[in-house]
Order: sequence, then structure tokens, then C-alpha cells
Amino acid sequence: MNKQQLAGVIAVTFGAILATQAGAAQPWMNPRLSPDKRADLLQAQMTADEEFSLLHGHAPGMMSARPPNMPRVAGYFPGVPRLGIPDIWESDASLGVANAGRKNNDDATALPSGLALAATFDPKLAYDSGAMIGKETRQKGFNVLLAGGTNIAREPRNGRNFEYLGEDPLLAGTLDGASIRGIQSAHVASTAKHFALNDQETGRMVASANMSPAAARESDLLAFEIAIESGQPNSVMCSYNRIDEVYACENPAYLNGILKGDWGWKGWVMSDWGAVHSAAAATNGLDQESGEELDHKIYFDQPLREAIASGQVAPARVHDMVHRILRGLFASGVMDNPVKAGGLDTAADGKVAARTAEQGVVLLKNDAGLLPVAAKAKRIVVIGGHADVGVMSGGGSSQVIPLGSLKLKPQRGAPIWSSGVIYGPYSPLKAIQARASGATVTYVDGTDPAAAAAAAKDADIAIVFATQWASEAMDVSLTLQDDQDALVSAVAAANPHTVVVLESGDPVLMPWLDKVGAVVEAWYPGANGGETIAKVLYGEVDPAGRLPISFPASVDQLPHPVLPGSDQMVHGAQDATKPFDIDYSEGSDVGYKWYAKTGKTPLFPFGRGLSYTSFAYDHLMVKGGSTITASFRVKNTGKTAGIDTPQVYLSAEPGRTQQRLIGWSRVALKPGESRVVTVTADRRLLADWDDSAHGWKLAAGDFKVFAGPDAATQALTGDATVSGASLKP
Ligand code: BGC
Repeated sequence: MNKQQLAGVIAVTFGAILATQAGAAQPWMNPRLSPDKRADLLQAQMTADEEFSLLHGHAPGMMSARPPNMPRVAGYFPGVPRLGIPDIWESDASLGVANAGRKNNDDATALPSGLALAATFDPKLAYDSGAMIGKETRQKGFNVLLAGGTNIAREPRNGRNFEYLGEDPLLAGTLDGASIRGIQSAHVASTAKHFALNDQETGRMVASANMSPAAARESDLLAFEIAIESGQPNSVMCSYNRIDEVYACENPAYLNGILKGDWGWKGWVMSDWGAVHSAAAATNGLDQESGEELDHKIYFDQPLREAIASGQVAPARVHDMVHRILRGLFASGVMDNPVKAGGLDTAADGKVAARTAEQGVVLLKNDAGLLPVAAKAKRIVVIGGHADVGVMSGGGSSQVIPLGSLKLKPQRGAPIWSSGVIYGPYSPLKAIQARASGATVTYVDGTDPAAAAAAAKDADIAIVFATQWASEAMDVSLTLQDDQDALVSAVAAANPHTVVVLESGDPVLMPWLDKVGAVVEAWYPGANGGETIAKVLYGEVDPAGRLPISFPASVDQLPHPVLPGSDQMVHGAQDATKPFDIDYSEGSDVGYKWYAKTGKTPLFPFGRGLSYTSFAYDHLMVKGGSTITASFRVKNTGKTAGIDTPQVYLSAEPGRTQQRLIGWSRVALKPGESRVVTVTADRRLLADWDDSAHGWKLAAGDFKVFAGPDAATQALTGDATVSGASLKP
């Protein structure tokens, strides 16, 4: 027997010993059994009170009698030590382990925003970022991460788009699924949230999002469907809003019908914090009440017991609720791998964050090769955006507040509990200075446009940092706040070599676009964000990001020029309180699909992003059959190495035009190098949801597709015949 075989025998024997031990005392601790079986064995030992203790939990920050040592984390459920069920400690969210108590600084690593990740179009980076924050979740003492921001960016003013992954369901679902897989690889349970149609923050507690079943299936729900099937999150968080007038956390059509029924998902539905309105929610598909302090009653304690006693809620439902939670704890590895806090390596983790951020920066304009910054630029002026201090981040429950951050008062309309506008301590100015040897780099804060213009006038290049702060519990204006448009215009008028670097949580309008030389969208770049921006400005990294969200030319182009519910907003921190309807009449034509349908030209289309090199496409071959397969050649026609992300879109199905992203390929190419890429369509993207048949209907006939650098540029076109099919959900 060689060494390897011996090691194998030892491992098997050791495993058998453990299993036998587990078999004797706690048979559910046998890792060879399925999560379902283990949950059954464990549940059989639980008292009713123990079961109920898993069904409702605390928001420690809101507890009136919080034990002195308990941190103000997002969620806490006491465990059942006698049975080996650990305490459940929950933290937000998908951009890193958010800081306990929200106002504290912390050493957790901030990922770039979701839109930055989405701009990479790279599932591998999504997985790696997820695995990093999953690891930090454990190292910070948590076993559930409330991550997985799955909502699509249907409304470009949504204050939480920075937590999400863009406007397209295939892109958002694919990346979110990869991120969830990464998180759960660290043996923590992850969620997908906020289920569903939680597409704006204004009136999130009272609004009803109304949409036809077919439209929902082809848009918002498709992102969840893809994320859930590929990521297998152990939990899904239902949202605050109502859907077709019924609260999302007690909506049987969505929870029982679609999520658990059609998709056969076996995890547990947890409520958002303060989103439960009745004990009957249990019957309608909710499994767990989170943050009970925020609900009017602790519905899943006494009221649920009474509802069971009176026959309103079936006892079998409670059994199923507990089963789903326990199953999730087994399936994610939480039961087998007790959390041991400590061991954070922020230097290494910051590199993971930066790797993603670097690939997500989008170069939107670059006239006459203004960027990369030329070595001969001897006078550089950096203006505004607190670039001397750091980079902006988005607010709300997902906020990571790195040590040494700058905290500024939020603008009017921000939630009352906001920790302020946080600038992570990663100064772009310092990173530029470090690269500008032999040049003078001066900084002006940008509060006075005239002074900024005067400073920029004789510079070789002026770099203006413009910021747009977004946060949970508010929506944003696409117009830059604090007269930043006037600042950019004044600087551009003084110096045509003006570069605008945007740090934004959503798209922004650019009334000055024609006057500036270059525009770089850096989103919220997270840890090491200053370095990230400087690397792109100096061409150390090719800008490989592509827009995951369309940038409108004006709000008039949007399906809802006036944000629904905004008439109810009052200044201060008050959200709409009177119920209202949001009728999503645009249906599944979200983002670029809306522009295609209405013939409007956005400022920048979905998918757009320049490189320091150039690419060309040829030789498109489209194959039909049961689906569409498109192959074409991508060539680097420029002088430097770069990464391109050519995209393939459906442009027409039999009998009608309909644009949909059906795939993309991310290729790194040296100058002159070319590669053939192939994209095969998921058949749901060629089909339409047929509600009467309760399935996807793929019409037989001719399907037209195009390949191009973005949603608005048909570089190569082709078509093929696809055979019809009825697909079950
Ligand atoms: C947010 C959730 C978050 C929860 C716990 C809610 O306000 O909508 O995304 O997970 O708070 O902090």
C-alpha cells in the first residue's frame, strides 16, 4: 500500500469512527446522511418550544433588553445546545460583512458594489468575491450571511441598485448564483434577496408592485430562478413590498407557487426585517420571522401557536418550516463546522476585492487617447469627490465601514438610521501621486467651481471626481447632487483635457459629456479603491468593465419618468406611508429591452465599455436545432493587451422583435491575437412564459441574433431555425 492509499484508509476509518460516535449519541451528526434525513432525525428530538425558537429571531440592535455582551448584529436566534444546534448569528450582506451596530468602524473587507461586479461579467470573480466574504463571515463569528442581492435594476433610480447585479436577468442571476456558491463554500448559509419585485426603495413598506405573471417570469423572477438553481442558497429573503396587492412575505403565489412549487427549492424563506404582517404568513409560505422587534407582533410565537390551535394554520406547516431551516443548516455545513471567530487577513482579502473592482471599471469615453494618463503630463490637477481621502460607498444595512473611513452627513431624504456617507480610506489622489513621478499633482476640493477651473486651466490634465450617493431606504436622483454638473462644466470649459471619474451607485446624467475628454465609471470600488482607479487611469489595467445597466439620456426616456410614490415623499427621513400601486406596464422590457422597443437612444447602452485597445468581430455562425448556438471570432486589433466581452443578443423570435441577452464571452487577447468564442442560449431566453400552459413556450421558427460590443451595436447578424418546445418551470 502506498502512502496515498494508506492516507485514504485512515481517512475512511476515521470517518467511520466519527459516524459511529455520531450514530450512538446524535445520529443527525452523521455527515453521510442527506441533509433531509439529518433534519428529520434532529427534529424528532425537538420540543415544541425548541422548534418555535427557530421560527422567530431578534434584531439585537433593536432589543430593549439586549444582553450586555450581545453585539448589535443584524440577526440572532438562540441555538439548542443540548442537540448541538448552534446559535444563529446573521450579518449583512453581499458587499462584505457589514459592521455590527452600523456606526462602528470595523476591519471587514469591503467589496466593490454589485454593479462593479456585474460590470466584470465574470462568474469566476463573483465566486471568488463570495468565497472571500463567506470566509470573513465565519471569521467575524457569523454563520448566516444575508447576501445574494438578486433583484434586477429595473428602476435606475433604485437606491439599492449598488447591492444588485444590473438590469439583465441572465447576467444578474448568473453572477449572483456564483457569488452565493462562493459564500456557501465557506460553510455559511446565504440568502437570495429580496423576493420579489422589490425594485425601488420609495414606499418599499407600502407599495404594491404589479406585473403580469408572464412579465415577472421573464424578468425579475428569471434572475432569481437562475441564481437559485445555480447558487442553491439555503435561504431566500422575502421583501417588504406587496406584489399584486399581497405582501411578499405572505404571498402564496410567489412563495408556495413559484419558489417552492415550480422551482422545487428546498430552503427556508426568511422575512425581511419588519416585513411580517400575520401568523397566516406561515400558511402562505413564510418559514421564519427575522428581526421580530421590527414587527407589530412576534407573529411566529404566540399568534402562530394560537393559529395552529384554532386550526387556521396546519401543524404540518410548522413541521415543514423547522425542517427547512434545519435542512439549510445541514446543507450549508453550519451544523458540521462550528464558527470560530478570528484569523482575518485583510491584506489578502483586500486584494480579492481589488481584483474584482479593477475588472469592473468602465471606460465610457476616451477622446483622442486622453487616457491612459501620458507620462509627459507634468501638471495634474485632481478635483473633488474627497479624492484626497478615499472612495465613496453605498449606505444602508449592507454598509461596511472600514477603519479610518471619513463619515459625512447624508443628504436630506436619507434614512434616519443612516451611518452617513462613508468614504473608505483609499485615496485616489495618493494613488495618482504615487504614479506621477516628476509631475506636480495638486488637489482642489471642488466646492468652488471657479477656483477649480482656475486650478485646472494650465494643467496638462484635470481629473474631476464626481460622486452620487445611494442608500437603502431611499432612491436617487440621476442628476449629480451639490452642483457637481456645474463643477465639471466649469473645469471642462477651462481645460479640454478633463477626465471625469464617477463613483456612483446608479447611472447618472451627464449634461457636460460633449465637453469632457474622458469618462470613467468606477462605481463604489471598495477596498483599495484609490489604487484601482489609478491603475486604470495609468493603463496598468485595461478597463475591462462593461455597463450592466443602461445610462438614460434623460429621465423622460424611462418607463416611469416620475418615480412612483415620490409625490408622497417629505423632506427628512420619512418614507411614503400611504399604500400605492406601481404598475410595471413595461413588463419584461427592462433597461436595454425598453430602449430597443421604444426606439430611444440612451446616453450609454447596456454592455458598453471601451478598452485601451480595440477589438473586431467576424465569421458569425449561428446554429439552430433545440436552441441557438452562435460562434464568432474576436480579434484584438489594437496595440496593447486587453479583455473584451462580446455579447450575443436575440433580436427577433418568430413573428416579433424581442431583444434579449443570451450570452457573452470574456476573452483576454494580446495585440493581433484572435479567438473563436461560442455562446449557447438557455432555452428560456428564446421562449416566452405562457401562463395558461404554466410553462415556457418556445415557438418553432426563425430566430434572429446579433453579436456586438453592447446592446445597441449589431456588429454581426445571423439567424437560425429552432424547433418548438414546451418547457416546464
Ligand atoms: C434590509 C435587508 C437586511 C435586513 C437586516 C433590511 O432593512 O432590507 O436587506 O438584510 O434589513 O439588516
